[in-house]
Amino acid sequence: MTDRSQPLCLIALPGNEPLTHALAEQLGADEVALDYRRFPDGESYLRLPDTLEDRHVALVASLDRPDDKIPSLLFAADLARDLGAARVGLVCPYLSYMRQDTRFHPGEALTSRSFARWLSAHLDWLVTVDPHLHRYRSLDEIYTLDSEVVAAAPALSEWIAASVERPVVIGPDGESEQWARAVAKPAGLPWRVMIKTRFGDREVKLEVPDLSELEGHTPVLVDDIISSGGTVAEATRHLLEAGFAAPVVVAVHGLFGDRSRELLRHAGVARVVCTNSVNAPESEIGLSRLLVPAIERLA
Ligand code: R5P
Repeated sequence: MTDRSQPLCLIALPGNEPLTHALAEQLGADEVALDYRRFPDGESYLRLPDTLEDRHVALVASLDRPDDKIPSLLFAADLARDLGAARVGLVCPYLSYMRQDTRFHPGEALTSRSFARWLSAHLDWLVTVDPHLHRYRSLDEIYTLDSEVVAAAPALSEWIAASVERPVVIGPDGESEQWARAVAKPAGLPWRVMIKTRFGDREVKLEVPDLSELEGHTPVLVDDIISSGGTVAEATRHLLEAGFAAPVVVAVHGLFGDRSRELLRHAGVARVVCTNSVNAPESEIGLSRLLVPAIERLA
């Protein structure tokens, strides 16, 4: 824990109030209200109480649909510092711009790197949940601030064990192997992984492993992100063709892009459940308990 003489100040960016309340209660932190609105021309207005001298501040902002949220977050970080905050960090249950981690085509922007530079320039620390680490092994490869990654697997594992009968955990692609394994192992569940080839933002093709010895189990598709829904929808079609029951889908981050819910329904998914890293009707699995120790170490 850093050297703090007063309780931590938590500041919710718009839309992050429920998680901020839960964290404040568990951390014994003060909640400070941010007055945020837009001027008629669309620019942001922000105001904080002028009482942050020497305080340690944690902004709480999940960064799904980040292009609408970044200016207000960076303004809030700068404002807290202008008002005297000694340390300003970010609790960001969903960290965006991690997937463009290479140039898939010549000339593409490496947005993961630019985004990491922006956040690192304005903040002292970052706590996030299961960022999409695929080609990067750790956030330190692109972020220069102090960071901690919280794994949602224990919460997903607990939910599956309590809510699904005879589950078999299935990762829909090689990238999901890390989550499938981490979710299945603590509960002693069987698990398998499919192989995926992506043909565009919304189109994927999957190869299914031999699942014949797992007949009678309920498939639980586990992935880090649901965006277009294409990956999970395709996996569902294969499972149904192979004679399995309609799968339950459990994801860390439910981003739910346009038409994704419709796609999942048509594919035949039985139920979709996500963590509350993003506010969505499916966000049933709470993360505050898992976030607290990491915040206590960095704030
Ligand atoms: C793959 O890289 C990720 O682990 C997810 O499978 C992927 O991001 C899901 O995206 P979509 O819902 O668009 O298929």
